[in-house]
Amino acid sequence: MGMDLEKRELVTQFQYDQFKDTGILILKDFFQAERVAKIRESAESVFARQFNRFGYKDSFRKNIQDLFDNNFDDFVNCGKIIQQGLWDLYEISTDYKIKLTLNQIGISSPNMCTRPVLFFNNKNLAKEDVYYKTPPHQDWISMKSSDNSVVIWIPLVDVNKKNGSVIFYPGTHKLGPLNYERIGGFAKVNIPDEYKKTIQPELKVGDVVIFSTLLVHESGDIEDDSIRWSCHFRYTDLDSKDFIDRGFPNPYEYKPIYR
Ligand SMILES: [Fe+2]
Repeated sequence: MGMDLEKRELVTQFQYDQFKDTGILILKDFFQAERVAKIRESAESVFARQFNRFGYKDSFRKNIQDLFDNNFDDFVNCGKIIQQGLWDLYEISTDYKIKLTLNQIGISSPNMCTRPVLFFNNKNLAKEDVYYKTPPHQDWISMKSSDNSVVIWIPLVDVNKKNGSVIFYPGTHKLGPLNYERIGGFAKVNIPDEYKKTIQPELKVGDVVIFSTLLVHESGDIEDDSIRWSCHFRYTDLDSKDFIDRGFPNPYEYKPIYR
C-alpha cells in the first residue's frame, strides 16, 4: 500500500497554490466514509455503555441528553475517555496518507504537537457557549508551532451552514500572529477589514480540511439540534528553521472542554 500511495499526487499543483494563497486546502473523499463514520460510532459506543448502565433505551440523541442532564459527571468522563485513548481516533491521526499529504504541502518532518481531539458540539450539551462555539481565533497563538504548521479538521458527520461547519477567513494566515483579547479560554483576534470575507465549506464524511495554524477561523452556529462530531489534529514541522530557532516551544495547555 505504501509504495502505491507514495507515487500518487495527493495534492495537485493547483491545490497547493490555492493553499499557499488562502491558507485552506479542502481534500474531497480523502478517507473512506465508512472508516470515518466508524470513529463516530466508536465514540458513541463509549456513551452507549453508560446508557445501558442507566437503562436508557431511547435514540442516541435523547440518551446523551439524559446523561448530560442527570449524570453530568459520567457524561464528562465519557468525553475524557474518548479524548484519552479512543483507538480509531489515534490511529487515523497518524495515518500514512496524512503524513504523505503533509510532506507534499512542505512539512518534511511532521510532528503531532497536540493530542488528537474529538469534538461533539451541541449547545444543549454544553454548560457555557464557549464550549460549543469559538470566536475568531488562530490556533497558532496557543501553540507557537512552526510557521508552516497546520490543523487537519475531519468532520465525522456531513457539515453545512445549518450544523455549524467551520468558518474560515481566507488569506489571514499571511498576516502572522494577530492582536487578540481573551474571551473565556479563547484568544479572539482582531481581523483587518479587508480580510473579513469568510467561507464556510460544505463537507461530506470522508472529506478533510487542512488549514494553516495562522489562519483565522471560528465555529459556525449550530442551528439545528444535531451533534457536530469532528476530529482536530495539529502538526508542526521539525525541519522548520523558524521553529528550530525559537527552541521548539510547546506551550499548549489542556483545558477541560466539557464544562
Ligand atoms: Fe481552532
